[in-house]
Amino acid sequence: MTIPSLNEFLTKDHNRLDKFLERFQERKAGNFVEAAEFWTRFASALKRHLIWEETILFPLFEQKTGQSGLTDTLRAEHEEIREWLAALDEKVRQKDAESDHEMDRLVNELGGHNAREEYALYPQLDKLLSEAERRTAFEAMSAVPEETP
Ligand SMILES: [Fe+2]
Ligand SMILES: [Fe+2]
Repeated sequence: MTIPSLNEFLTKDHNRLDKFLERFQERKAGNFVEAAEFWTRFASALKRHLIWEETILFPLFEQKTGQSGLTDTLRAEHEEIREWLAALDEKVRQKDAESDHEMDRLVNELGGHNAREEYALYPQLDKLLSEAERRTAFEAMSAVPEETP
């Protein structure tokens, strides 16, 4: 079986996350219960995605290139993303639909960050890793639990 490219797989995951977030945003003023379900799916899938990168992909990239400039920037952006994620989690917990400011910041932060990964990180990783190494990376990713606290 051929192993998909990391770029293809992770770019699809970024797009899937964007869709959950759009659905939350579209519904939050009308049907908050339904909106909150999309928020929960978004938040847990995003947390898992961040863990994939921080524990598997960034270290692999550093190991292969001997450089950590790009990954340090991406890690700092993850911290920023986590802050807006936590702020929005709190809004959803309080059933507060007034979250456009936090949402704008999160969307903005995620947009730039995801584009950088899709442009600079994932394609390089695909070039640097052998098929066996890519397979191992996917196995490690699937071992990260779906429900990440
Ligand atoms: Fe990331
Ligand atoms: Fe990512």
